[in-house]
Amino acid sequence: MYKGILHTHYLVVTLFLLIYVIKTILLLSNKNDTLTTFTKKVKVPEMIISALFLITGIYLTTQLPFGGKYDYLFWIKLVMVFASIPIAIIGFKKGNKILAALSLLLITGAFGLAESFHKKKGIAKEAGIVANDGGKSLYEAKCGLCHGADGKLGVSGAKDLSQTQLDAASIKDIILHGKNSMQPIAVSDEEAGTIAEYVQGNLKGH
Ligand code: HEC
Repeated sequence: MYKGILHTHYLVVTLFLLIYVIKTILLLSNKNDTLTTFTKKVKVPEMIISALFLITGIYLTTQLPFGGKYDYLFWIKLVMVFASIPIAIIGFKKGNKILAALSLLLITGAFGLAESFHKKKGIAKEAGIVANDGGKSLYEAKCGLCHGADGKLGVSGAKDLSQTQLDAASIKDIILHGKNSMQPIAVSDEEAGTIAEYVQGNLKGH
């Protein structure tokens, strides 16, 4: 689903830009009649493309990782896209070349930012895979040193997690706040929950 929408988004954005570039070139080279004919011809496809652009864009925005914390690049991109729309409308209506060129600059700039943004997101997604293996790699990275991969290592008095009587909520609490000689572990609330579920489901009683 996510991948399909992402590809659709790329496709409609590319088509959108293509129409935009052609229109701007026609305007800049004084081919006003061709511009009028072209604008009329692509009117309906352009409406569909713009709608798909927005719908897929909104969907993808809701699917972002980072727990809802958007990259500042994302906001710049959004502002650029939305700023380019009125500038383009006025530019093409009045035949103002500077405005038309400016709006094209804004939208291609946003496209470039989107690219670097998605590259970053790709990295974040890879990190997400680590977090998506049910907490195993998180557990091993953050707890393995003392408790061992199977929970039984017992370094410097670390309790055997396969023998613990605690439930996931208490384990999460210990991860975040520590217990006696165990210091709090530097993980997010969400990560602590994932690790606790992992301990509960995979180590306890094994
Ligand atoms: C630096 C070593 C160290 C690390 C890292 C560490 N622990 Fe501990 N842990 C301990 C020690 C020591 C105890 C025993 C504390 C006590 O009860 O006095 C303990 C106790 C616990 C207990 C209590 C078990 C019981 O039945 O009372 C849980 C649960 C636990 N650790 C989970 C974790 C998890 C999950 C992580 C990783 C997020 C983690 N620990 C990381 C050292 C560590």
